[in-house]
Formats: sequence, structure tokens, C-alpha cells
Amino acid sequence: MLKPSRLDRRAFLRSTGMTAVAGTVGAAVPLAAEAGGAARRQGGRYDFDTIYNRIGTDSSKWDAQIARYGRDKIEVGMGTADQDFRIAPAITRALRDRIGHENYGYLSIPASYKASIVDWNQRRYGLAIDPDTIRHAAGVHPGIISTLRAFCPPGSKVLLQTPGYNGFYTDIRVVGCVAEESPLRLVNGRYQMDFEDLERRIDHDTQAFILCNPHNPTGNVWSRSDLTTLGEICTRRRVVVLSDEIHCDFVTKGHTYTPYATLDDEAVVRNSVTYKSVSKSFNLSMLKCAYLFSTNPDYLDRIGGAGQHRQSMNTLGIIAAEAAYNECEDWLDQLLEYIDGTQDLVESYVNANVPGVETVKPEGTYLAWLDAAAAMAAVGMRKAADEADGSTTPEREFQRYLVDHAHIHLNPGSDYGLGSDGRMRMNIATSRQLVERALGNMANALATA
Ligand SMILES: Cc1ncc(COP(=O)(O)O)c(C=O)c1O
Repeated sequence: MLKPSRLDRRAFLRSTGMTAVAGTVGAAVPLAAEAGGAARRQGGRYDFDTIYNRIGTDSSKWDAQIARYGRDKIEVGMGTADQDFRIAPAITRALRDRIGHENYGYLSIPASYKASIVDWNQRRYGLAIDPDTIRHAAGVHPGIISTLRAFCPPGSKVLLQTPGYNGFYTDIRVVGCVAEESPLRLVNGRYQMDFEDLERRIDHDTQAFILCNPHNPTGNVWSRSDLTTLGEICTRRRVVVLSDEIHCDFVTKGHTYTPYATLDDEAVVRNSVTYKSVSKSFNLSMLKCAYLFSTNPDYLDRIGGAGQHRQSMNTLGIIAAEAAYNECEDWLDQLLEYIDGTQDLVESYVNANVPGVETVKPEGTYLAWLDAAAAMAAVGMRKAADEADGSTTPEREFQRYLVDHAHIHLNPGSDYGLGSDGRMRMNIATSRQLVERALGNMANALATA
């Protein structure tokens, strides 16, 4: 039996200072009519509240799901990790200026672009990057793939911590290696690194470890002490650390992101490569603009030799990234506040109102990692998966259940490796109105299940 909904939904939203959910499952949602949303300054503030309609733009978060399930089944797309907000105005301005020059021939990547990377990391995180150690990449994935190719012979093992970002499994497969999963420990609802397990899994066949900080999907922001212990193990055992810090700009109140490259032990830092991008922070994923750096020249040479593309950048990506880092810090700061408030809302609303689902506010990212095991059991997802003869999982079945009954699209925990049973990942980087609508729909669907 699901626990009954304990609070009146509208009363709850009023108590949190949020507006009431505008619409319920089955109601047609006039997104187009609400589409005037803009991250435009209003009294010095950007507007993340007004719904910004992305439907009809081939977005994977919205359009791909509508194509798969039907328009009437997708009221809120909450899968793919990008944002629904209009980008910072200074980026649009910079792109418009560049488009005025109607030529996209080869470029020398301007020194000002690297300078923007160096300044941003120094200013925000006290991380000093030597510009000569920065390499360009069309994305974090291409950077990771080049690195795995350089260090990991086909058939060897690549270590990662799970639940872990599903894209890492693809990277590992692409280079012909095998994922070695070290499960995080769940203690009182919070995930912790299990150093003993991690070290036990290293053998002569393990060349690399992919670290995710902040961690997708659990939202952990790893402490300096965690990173130091981990770094010491990997350095001692000669395992290269690939530190994916793409989510680093999203940290909730009271938490601090520690760049791996700021650890005290130089040898530990020299045993690592860091990957970053403007893509998550400023919603520029398809402008394909990322970078990697390392204090180890040998590592950089090996990655370059393994096919790190010479011309992996594109004109508009460079323009947008530079504008983002140089001119859009206030936009990002306001967005962080907004996301933090939404994370509070999600935690309190889910725990009070969504039968069979619980969650803990993450330390970072704009993702919520829901424990929906009780809800899945109550609506018979294990049985449904068993009857499908191993072709699906309870989490995939629940994904479909939520599409059908709550008209929301979430990612199934089973995509994230060991320790993800009963979990669903929800991307909350959208207007709060839509988050409220999604939560309301989920509460209603499960209350009547
Ligand atoms: C941890 C992590 N790394 C990498 C990526 C994707 O990086 P890119 O699009 O720059 O290849 C994502 C996107 O969701 C991610 O969450």
C-alpha cells in the first residue's frame, strides 16, 4: 500500500511561498501561449519563472519524448541534463554580433578564450590553470574518450563509482574497455565513497578511474578529504584519474566544490586530467565547447597523440563560451539561487506528498535522485519487468508508468549502474511552475494507484 498523501497540495505550495500548480494530468497545457519567458532583467533580476517553450526545436528532453510517446503524454520533460531557461542575454548579444560577419572559415583560437577559462576558474574557485596546459575538446565526452584511448588498452578495466552517469558506460564501451563498478555506500540517505571497495577493484588491468565531481546522478559534492584519500589510492596504484567536473558550477547552499587540481599533493594532481565546459552552467551543450587540462605534460602528449582533435572547436561555441565566462556570472549566480530554491521545494514536496517516493536534497547538480522503490513495488513494476523476460527493468517500467499516468518523463535508475534499484533521476532545471506541475501530477497518479 502506498502511504496516503499527507498534505493538501495547494496548501503545501502556499506554505512554501510557491504558486499553486497550474494544471493537472490530462489537462491540455497551452505551453505556446506561455512562451514569452525570458531570462531578462526585471528590477535587476533575471526571470527563470516564466515557462520557456522548447517544443518544436528537436530538443531531446522534449521533442524526442513527444515523438516517442505522443504530445498528450509529455507535459514535462525532465530527462536529458540541460536547462529549459533562455540563456544569458550577453551570450545572445555576442552571438548576434558574430553572425553579422558572414564567414565561418578556419580560426586561430583566440588567446582571450583561454584567458576567460583561466580567469573564471581563478576567480570562482581559486584554481590556477596554466593556459599552456589547456586543450580544447568538442565536449567532455570526446575529451574522456581520447584519454581512455591513450591510457587504456582494449579489454582493460575502467573504474567508476556507482550509481554513476550513464554516459561513462558508453565512453568505456566506445574504446573497447570494460566498466569496473565500485558502489557508493548509502548511509542515512547520503552516499559516501567506499575506499576499501575501490582499492580492492584495482588490479594490473586497471589503468584509469573516472571521477564525477559533483556527482551525477547522486548530487554529491566530494570533500577535499574524500578527494585526497581517493587521489592517494589512485596515485599509489598507478591509476590515472579523469576528473569530470562539468557540473561544478552547480552547488547548493552550504556546500563547496573542490577542484581536484587544487589538492595539496602535487603528485596526486599530476596523476590527473580535469574536464570542464560551459555547457551545463550556461546551457550551451550543442555549441560543443569544452576543455581539459593537466599539470602532467606527458599525459597531455599522450592524449594528443591518441587523437585529441586539432580543430575540435567551432566559431560560435568559442564566442558563446567567452561571453559566458566573462559577462554572465551574475546570471549564473541568480540561477544557482533559483535551482537551490527548487531543490528545497522538490525535497519537501516529494517527502510530504508523493506516495512511495522519498528524496534528499543534493549537494550539487540540478538533478534530483528519487528513491521510488516503494511506489514501484506498489504499482507492480517488478512483476511487469519479470513478465517481460529480462528485456526491461522495474525502473524502465516505472518510467513508462509515469509517462502514462503523470505525463512526465524521468530517467530510470537502472541506466546508472550498481546500486540504482528503485531510483529515478529527475532534471529540475526548468521553471518552478513546471516542476510544481510535475510533482503534482506524480502525487496524483500515485495517490490513486
Ligand atoms: C557528468 C557528465 N559528463 C559529461 C556530460 C556530457 O558532456 P558533453 O556534452 O560536454 O560531452 C554530462 C551530460 O549530462 C554529464 O552529466
